[in-house]
Amino acid sequence: MRNYFIAGNWKMHKTVSESVALAKALVAQLAGCREKLMIAPAFTALAAVSEVVKGTNILLGAQNMGPEEQGAHTGEVSVLMLKDLGVKVVILGHSERRHTYGETDELINKKVRLALQHGLEVILCVGETLDERESGRLEAVCRTQVEQGLAGVSAGDLARVTIAYEPVWAIGTGKTATPEDADAVHAYIRKVMAERYGEAAAKAMCIQYGGSVKAENAAQLMQKANIDGALVGGASLKAETFVPIAAFR
Ligand code: PGA
Repeated sequence: MRNYFIAGNWKMHKTVSESVALAKALVAQLAGCREKLMIAPAFTALAAVSEVVKGTNILLGAQNMGPEEQGAHTGEVSVLMLKDLGVKVVILGHSERRHTYGETDELINKKVRLALQHGLEVILCVGETLDERESGRLEAVCRTQVEQGLAGVSAGDLARVTIAYEPVWAIGTGKTATPEDADAVHAYIRKVMAERYGEAAAKAMCIQYGGSVKAENAAQLMQKANIDGALVGGASLKAETFVPIAAFR
């Protein structure tokens, strides 16, 4: 039986009290859920949400992390601070970080290695823009983002890495890749992983799909052979839209 990994990325939404209320609702409603679960509130709500999810089946995630352990980095949040709050998973390389805030593969790789070195799990996001897809560069872009994002990551650390394939044109737009299209890209990413880490490691790899996932399309997507979970944005902001995704089977 496969394990699915369903993660909620709350992005820049919710005050502390709103975050706590949502986390409490999820803890109550997902207590029996068989999937691996994570929620990533804003930095400001991590401490409070950490108290709510402690000892439950929901892992605490962060949406980003600074590239250095500590020091003169105004505005950044370090891996040590995240660990101190009980964060277990960090989302890195989200397309909003890449495209709105100019994060490069090199910077993302630095964060990936730092997070792994400190024992965190990483969700490395990759995905093409519409322009890249339409000009036939989808595979090249995904290959570069996977290879450069994981540069220097050992086979041993790979067990703590999830890749999230998130076509940029599908994020927050209501447009979803068809399950067949998404599965084909996931298969390609798995092939890139196999070249680097071998067939067995590639097969064991969790590859999430993200981009307008909702209750109505979650099951069809995750029934595909290469889709092992979902990274959910908009639909993770309410219990009534996130719970049915986590309980898709
Ligand atoms: P969305 O966001 O579900 O709102 O499309 C997904 C994401 O950015 O991870």
